[in-house]
Amino acid sequence: GGCQLPNITWHQGCVGLEKRETLLRQKGCILWITGLSGAGKSTLACALENSLMAKGKLSYVLDGDNLRHGLSNNLGFSAADREENIRRVGEVAKLFADAGLITIVSLISPYKRDRDFARALVQPGKFVEVYMKVPLEICEGRDCKGLYKMSRAGVLKGFTGVDDPYEEPDNPEIQIEATNAAGDFIPPDCMANTLITYLEQ
Ligand code: PPS
Repeated sequence: GGCQLPNITWHQGCVGLEKRETLLRQKGCILWITGLSGAGKSTLACALENSLMAKGKLSYVLDGDNLRHGLSNNLGFSAADREENIRRVGEVAKLFADAGLITIVSLISPYKRDRDFARALVQPGKFVEVYMKVPLEICEGRDCKGLYKMSRAGVLKGFTGVDDPYEEPDNPEIQIEATNAAGDFIPPDCMANTLITYLEQ
């Protein structure tokens, strides 16, 4: 990270990432979970965090809904605001990964451009895009927060998947579906295992 801003100089830290990674016995990285509202991003993030903790790995979840209470509390859901939200969270995730943490990001992040921006912030291989490919009907059927209902009623405008875009990833490192070949729902712990197996390789 060099920097061309006037009167601002980049200071290299004293202790490097390698030393932190040795201390923590893990590699810092970003797992970027994208998908529709109600796809199960937060649930997967939580299961993953628990499994990693049980394995003695330090992770941290950056969750859209939560961050919008603080870091992004001045942002709405226009394309520009979502872009800024993803930029901020991407930059924070980059710092967390540089701290050596397995950084789990859970954001709808509906635009390819914004996800690619976040990907470009870190070295290749440190960014793992996880697409929760869950059909709109399933997400809407769950409607945990009643937002789909509000959206269909026209009370909530610009809701992702209803009257706002969601651009599917073309080439995510990992794609997770809600159901298996037999049509049964996959438990979040199984999904988390898929991600952990990927990380271990
Ligand atoms: S984004 O697009 O990545 O900036 O969105 P994110 O920060 O992940 O926030 C998504 C959560 O905000 C709630 N919400 C909305 N989502 C989509 N569109 C609109 N208009 C909207 N308004 C509120 C919703 O609860 C999302 O939470 P999740 O956990 O994804 O269901």
